[in-house]
Amino acid sequence: MRYKRLGKSSLEVSVVGLGTWAIGGDFWGKVDDDRSIATIQRAIDCGINLIDTAPAYGIGHAERIVGKAVKGRRDKVIIATKCGIFKGGGRMVRDSSPESIRKEVDASLTRLGIDVIDLYQIHWPDYDTPLEDSLNEMAKLRDAGKIRYFGVSNFDKELMEKAVSIGGVVSLQPQYSLLQRGIEKDLLPFCRENGIGILAYGSLGGGILTGKFKERPKFEEGDNRENFYPFFREPLWSKAMELVEVLRQIAAEVDKPVAHVAINWLTQQDGVSTALVGAKTPEQAEQNAAAGEWELSQEQLDAIESAYKRIYG
Ligand SMILES: NC(=O)c1ccc[n+]([C@@H]2O[C@H](COP(=O)([O-])OP(=O)(O)OC[C@H]3O[C@@H](n4cnc5c(N)ncnc54)[C@H](OP(=O)(O)O)[C@@H]3O)[C@@H](O)[C@H]2O)c1
Repeated sequence: MRYKRLGKSSLEVSVVGLGTWAIGGDFWGKVDDDRSIATIQRAIDCGINLIDTAPAYGIGHAERIVGKAVKGRRDKVIIATKCGIFKGGGRMVRDSSPESIRKEVDASLTRLGIDVIDLYQIHWPDYDTPLEDSLNEMAKLRDAGKIRYFGVSNFDKELMEKAVSIGGVVSLQPQYSLLQRGIEKDLLPFCRENGIGILAYGSLGGGILTGKFKERPKFEEGDNRENFYPFFREPLWSKAMELVEVLRQIAAEVDKPVAHVAINWLTQQDGVSTALVGAKTPEQAEQNAAAGEWELSQEQLDAIESAYKRIYG
């Protein structure tokens, strides 16, 4: 496994991180908790040291499962969780006020069964709370020893500039993959220049970049991933399939899974600290972790780039 320093923090994170949205059990169809625990443990055994979770994943369920999985393995993992969005009155509510953050951090620590959160992230911007107030509260939590570092997620360039001017933020978690390259225009260069680590999410576009879907999938009831990742719908679906075909050829050349090509394209982008990859089974976690054992050649990266330009213009 390759490891990189997360921004200006002292955290050395595996280039492949484990995402736990699906194991929350409320958005990606049915999951089995014992299997989820085994998935997290297999990821750790395979060298993944970064586990990303959030209270929003299954209203605390994912955090509880992570807590069970890391018991006895705490020294091997960097636990990243989030605050600022939760279910209230049947809908998702954004609240990054200091009072709310104070309540949330204690609830997350309890669910995770740990004394300190390694990376605490504001999950989505809360435009009703001054950013200074939220970040000052995060700094207080750090100084009090409840969290080690703090970061943000889903911030645009303008908000990121503000966050950096306030100070203390070590990372950004944006959506970034071969299917969603929006951050390359200004956010990624800004983070690189300012030493902000990047935890890329949706690395496989919700599974599309594994190459396992030959036609548009019909997901089981309760699996809502296509509402979050628009590549499952036209016109993006056909383009994604064209791109996957190119990844498939490269994967065949090197005798590796298609998912590895997508994950390594991401881990090899300058400024990306870790590619967060969701997994529902130990086999998926093990396969994804193995992408951290090799890298694409410059020639292969160039081939992906020219295919991308041909397909997406
Ligand atoms: N900050 C945010 O707002 C935000 C938003 C989204 C995600 N995230 C984070 O980023 C993480 C990763 O993104 P994601 O989970 O949404 O999407 P993803 O990593 O692009 O896709 C994960 C899904 O792909 C399938 N998969 C994974 N590995 C596979 C393999 N080797 N072979 C076949 N199928 C495989 C699994 O679903 P199936 O087996 O059911 O197909 C898995 O749940 C999340 O878990 C979460 O921690 C954060």
